[in-house]
Amino acid sequence: MKRVMVLALAAVLCVAFSMVAYAVDVPTGPVKMDATKKPVIFNHDTHKDYKCGECHHPVDGKENYQKCATAGCHSAAKADKKKAGSYYKIVHNKKAGKKSGIATCISCHKKVAGKDKAQKKALTGCKKSKCHP
Ligand code: HEC
Ligand code: HEC
Repeated sequence: MKRVMVLALAAVLCVAFSMVAYAVDVPTGPVKMDATKKPVIFNHDTHKDYKCGECHHPVDGKENYQKCATAGCHSAAKADKKKAGSYYKIVHNKKAGKKSGIATCISCHKKVAGKDKAQKKALTGCKKSKCHP
């Protein structure tokens, strides 16, 4: 009997938890960032220690889960590559996050890797990194 109650309670908690979670579901499989020539596979499950908003920053004060290269957002056009806020920069800018609090892929990976050479290569390198294997 006790066991049944524990199970019932667990079920209720699961439902309650999934309702308060987020406005959208986290993708369960890999997401392909393919707006440019060198696509990158992004996995939410290897980044679950972070808040959604650390990457999916709000737009006009509202939660936002649009693709980064949505028209009017982060341009993936080759001509814009070097401009602040371009698709390339929001991935590669090493110094981002100090003022805005919004990290780029590499600015966070740089912190994560610290002085570990293998991790640096894997998480902040270009060719043969985990991003561009
Ligand atoms: C470390 C960064 C990061 C975190 C944290 C993160 N995401 Fe993502 N998410 C991404 C990236 C990158 C994409 C792919 C965007 C693109 O393709 O332009 C993505 C894609 C998505 C998409 C699909 C959008 C689409 O149209 O394909 C959804 C939905 C989503 N995330 C929800 C969430 C939720 C909910 C959370 C928190 C539980 C979360 N994400 C946490 C980086 C992150
Ligand atoms: C706020 C911090 C943070 C941000 C932002 C972030 N990452 Fe990561 N990333 C991590 C951590 C932590 C790991 C795990 C490192 C380990 O355990 O070796 C990781 C690992 C990875 C890996 C290797 C594991 C796997 O899933 O294959 C890839 C690839 C990766 N990140 C891609 C990205 C991309 C692409 C972005 C930007 C869209 C991004 N990350 C943004 C913290 C971050």
